[in-house]
Amino acid sequence: MPDTAPTQAPAHTRHGSSIGQPLTRRDGILKVTGSARYAADNNPEGMLHAVMAVSSIARGRVAALNVAAARAHPGVVEVMTPANRPPLAADPDEKTNPFAFRLDLLQSDHVRYANQPIAVVIAETLEAAAEGARLLAPRYEAEAPRASLTTGERFVPRTVGVGNPPEVRKGDVEAGLADATRRVEATYSTPAQFHNAMEPHAIVASWDGDRLVLDTPTQGLALAQMRAAELLGISAEHIHIRSPFLGGGFGSKGLLAGPQMLGILAAKLVGRPVKLVLRRDQMYGPVGHRAATQQTLRLGTDEAGALQAISHHALTYSSSFDDFFEPAADTSHTLYASPAIATTYEAVRLDTGTPLFMRAPGEATGSIALESAIDEMAWACGMDPLEFRLKNYADVEPVSGKSFSSKALRECYAQGAERFGWASRPVQPRQMRDEAGLLVGWGMGTATFPALMFQGQARAVLRQDGSGLVESGAHDMGQGAWTALAQIAADGLGLPLERVEFRAGDSTLPDAGIAGGSAHTATAGIAIHAAGGDVIAKLAALATGDERSPLFGAGNVGVIARDGRLHRRDDESRSERYEDILLRAGVAEIAGRGSSASDPSAQEAHAMHAHGAVFAEVKVDPELGQVRVTRMVGAFAAGTIINPRMVRSQYYGGMIWGMSFALHEHAAMDRRTGRIMNANLADYHVPVNADTPAIEAILVEEHDPYVNALGIKGVGEIGITGSAGAVANAVWHATGIRVRHFPITPDQLI
Ligand code: MOS
Repeated sequence: MPDTAPTQAPAHTRHGSSIGQPLTRRDGILKVTGSARYAADNNPEGMLHAVMAVSSIARGRVAALNVAAARAHPGVVEVMTPANRPPLAADPDEKTNPFAFRLDLLQSDHVRYANQPIAVVIAETLEAAAEGARLLAPRYEAEAPRASLTTGERFVPRTVGVGNPPEVRKGDVEAGLADATRRVEATYSTPAQFHNAMEPHAIVASWDGDRLVLDTPTQGLALAQMRAAELLGISAEHIHIRSPFLGGGFGSKGLLAGPQMLGILAAKLVGRPVKLVLRRDQMYGPVGHRAATQQTLRLGTDEAGALQAISHHALTYSSSFDDFFEPAADTSHTLYASPAIATTYEAVRLDTGTPLFMRAPGEATGSIALESAIDEMAWACGMDPLEFRLKNYADVEPVSGKSFSSKALRECYAQGAERFGWASRPVQPRQMRDEAGLLVGWGMGTATFPALMFQGQARAVLRQDGSGLVESGAHDMGQGAWTALAQIAADGLGLPLERVEFRAGDSTLPDAGIAGGSAHTATAGIAIHAAGGDVIAKLAALATGDERSPLFGAGNVGVIARDGRLHRRDDESRSERYEDILLRAGVAEIAGRGSSASDPSAQEAHAMHAHGAVFAEVKVDPELGQVRVTRMVGAFAAGTIINPRMVRSQYYGGMIWGMSFALHEHAAMDRRTGRIMNANLADYHVPVNADTPAIEAILVEEHDPYVNALGIKGVGEIGITGSAGAVANAVWHATGIRVRHFPITPDQLI
C-alpha cells in the first residue's frame, strides 16, 4: 500500500471491521437450495454430450477401435480419435513451463497408464455417447506394466521443479546417529491416494469462431486460460472461463487437466457446444493423484532426549512421462531442532498417470512418517511425546537458522493439551480401556505448513452512492473464499460488508493466482485489500485537500476509513460520508488497483510457517482390530483469522482428512494390470459422518508482522498434517502395536 494511504490499525484490533467476524457462507443459501450453478449445470443451446473412452491397459498401444460401430449408433455425432482430433498449436508432451504437465490429448495410439483417454464419443444424449464409447471395444497390444514402488530402477530425482524439492543436508547425520545414545530407525509406507472431490472434472465448451467460453471448475483461472491458449494457438483473452463454484478441488483442479482439453477439442471438432463430465472411475488416472511413498526415518538422541540427527529418506514414484514426485521428506527440515538433518529422495517410474498436488502434497505424507517416528523416539527415551517435542522445539528454522516470522506452537501445544486432558495420559501403551472393554489410546502430532503467498491482482471501485465493487479472479472450491475475501474487500474499502459487491470466479477478472498451497486468502486477500486502500487513498486526497471538508488538512495518514466514512485520526468525531466527498468533488466513482507478491527480503529474513498441535483419542476392539477415532482436538496458529467460523471449518476438514490418511484411504493397484482396483467411492474409503468423531479446533492467537500486510497464513492444508500422525500414535498407545504401513487396517492389529 502506498505510504500516503490512511493508516490502519492491525486487523485483529480494528473496530467495526468485517475482518474477524464469524459470518456464515455468503453462497450458502445458493448451495443448500441447489441454485448454485456448477460447471455441469450449464446447457447452452445446441449442446452435445461427450464421453471419454479410457484405456483398460496401463502400458502398450491401442491396436484397434471399432469407430464404425460407435458412429452407427443412433444419436452419435462424431468419434474423436488420434486420426481426426483437431490439430494443436503446441505439443502436449512439451514442457513449456514448470506448471505445464504433460497431457494425453489423443496424440498417438500409445498407452502410458490405465484410464488414459483413448477416444471421445460425442452424441446428442449422454446415453448415446456412453453407448458409443462402449461400442468402440478397443483391442490392445499390452506390455507388462511397471506397477510396484519397490521393484524397478531407482534414481535420484535431480531436476528441481514443481513438486520436486531439493535435498537438504545440514551437519553430519551419520556421525550424529553413530554418537547417539538412543536411535530409532523405521520405514513407513503410504499408499497412492486419489482426490475424490465430490464434483468430478467437468467442462462445457462453446466455440464462437476463435473465441471460446468454458464452464469448468478450476483452482487456477489464469493458469488454465494460459495453458488452453498455448495448446490451441489462440490468445488467452479469447478464452473466457467461468468457475464460480467448485465441488471440491484438493489440488486436482489446480491445473487444466487433459480431459478438460478434450472437451474443448471435441467442441471444436463438431462445431457445437459440448459437455464432458468424468465418470468417477475416470478420475483415477488422467487428473492426478498422490503417489505412494516408502519413507525411512532415522533419529538419534543424546542421553537427555535431545535430537542429534534426523534423516528422512523418501522413495516415491512419478509417471513414465513426467516428473512430479511427492515431496514427502520436506517436512523434516522445518519442525524439530537437530544439529544434523538430511532429507533425501529416490524415485522409480511407474506406468501410472502423473501424480500431482493433493491435500498438503509432501507435508501430509511426510508428516505421518515423521510424527510416528518422533512418537517412537519419545517412547525409546521413556518420555511423554509432548515433553519430547518440547525438548526438541525449534526456536529457529533448523536448517536455515532463520528466525520464524511468528511461531505460536508452544501455545498450540499448551492449549491443545489442556483442552484434551493430555496430562493424565499414561506413558505406557495399552493401559486404558473403556466400559465396554475397548482399548483406548491417546496420541498427538505436530502440524505445520509453509505460509505462502503468490502474485495476485484485484481492482476496487467506490461508487457515488457510497457502495463498493471489488473484483478478483479468485476461486472458491468450498473453502469459503466468497465470504472471507468479501470480508477483506469490505475492510479494504472501510465499508460494511452489505455495501460491497464482490465478484470472483471468472477469468475476465484480475488474475488472483492459483488457489493452492493454502495461499489463496493471503494472495487474493492482500491484492483485494490493497485495491481498497488505493481507492481510499484517492478519496482521502479529495477530502483532506478540500477546505469544505471537516477532514481538511488532516493529511492522508491522518484519516481512518470505517463504516463508509473517513474519520480524522486525532478527532474521530470529525468525519465525512464517502458519498458526500464524491458528490462535492463531482466525482462519479473512484477506481483502484492492488496486487500481492511475496517480498523476497522478508522471505530472506524469516522462515514462515503456520503451526499446530493435534491430539486424538481412538478406541480399538482388541478382538476385531477395528479402530474408531472418538475425539480430536487441534490447536492451530496461523496468523490473522479472517473468519473464525470458516477457519474452524477448514481445520475440521483437514483433521478429518488426516484421520482418513491414517485409517481409510488406499488406492490399490493391481500389479499385473496397473489398474486401480477400487476406483469408486464404495471401495475407496473416505470417512463418512459415522466415522467422524467430535472434533474441536482451537484458534490460537498469533500476530505476524512479517508474513504479509494483513498477517495472514494459510489454513487449508495444515489440518491434515499432525492429525494423521496423532491418530496413528493413538492406535499404538491403545494397542502397543506400531503399524507403519498406512492406512492402519484391522488385520494389522490382531
Ligand atoms: Mo492444494 S494440493 O495446494 O490444492
